[in-house]
Amino acid sequence: MAPEGSRGRFITLEGGEGAGKTTLSRALSARLAEEGVPVLRTREPGGAPGAEAVRGLILGQGPWDPVAEAMLHFAARREHVARTIAPALEAGIWVVCDRFADSTLAYQGAGQGLSREVWERLCDLALGSLRPDLTLVLDLPPERGMGRALQRGDANRYELQDADFHARVRAAFLAIAAAEPDRCAVLDASRPPLEVLDAALDLALAA
Ligand SMILES: Nc1ncnc2c1ncn2[C@@H]1O[C@H](COP(=O)(O)OP(=O)(O)O)[C@@H](O)[C@H]1O
Ligand SMILES: [Mg+2]
Repeated sequence: MAPEGSRGRFITLEGGEGAGKTTLSRALSARLAEEGVPVLRTREPGGAPGAEAVRGLILGQGPWDPVAEAMLHFAARREHVARTIAPALEAGIWVVCDRFADSTLAYQGAGQGLSREVWERLCDLALGSLRPDLTLVLDLPPERGMGRALQRGDANRYELQDADFHARVRAAFLAIAAAEPDRCAVLDASRPPLEVLDAALDLALAA
């Protein structure tokens, strides 16, 4: 565990639809709290009042131009970082965040054709030097994830994209993890939830 008075750890959960991000974010936050770690659970798009309003625009309107859509995500992300994430980390609170900037690279980049260069510029503008300490990529064949997500019964605009879109998103998350092995770990999300949780907890406590 972090020494008292130090900055909190910033842990992001990434992956396709139905991979188990929200399930893991709840369980991981609860387990960290049991370990005595002060923890804040949050999600994107959203996590601050203005950012939740932008979430409604992103998911409720559209289709957006891919750059416009990425800018909306980063506008929401900037609010989220400024009002929720950065203050928590500075107070020594760990942050478990359900999706973050990698999702924009996977969905708007690999999914919708946004260039990596524009994504990097938006990251620099919106995030400054903030990057996650640990990113857990939940990997699952998209058809299995979609099966889980559809059972949940609240399909959003992204979930309704075709199989090829979801295949590109999955490949993009794996490429991100391969390119940044110090920050990222890939978890096999086809395993039972408790096994995924145990693997995630070990990685989080070592972060
Ligand atoms: N490891 C798992 N094995 C089987 N089902 C899971 C697993 N993790 C989550 N689920 C179930 O799959 C559905 C989607 O999970 P969820 O956490 O909402 O995914 P995401 O947030 O990544 O879209 C939920 O009904 C959840 O209970
Ligand atoms: Mg979710």
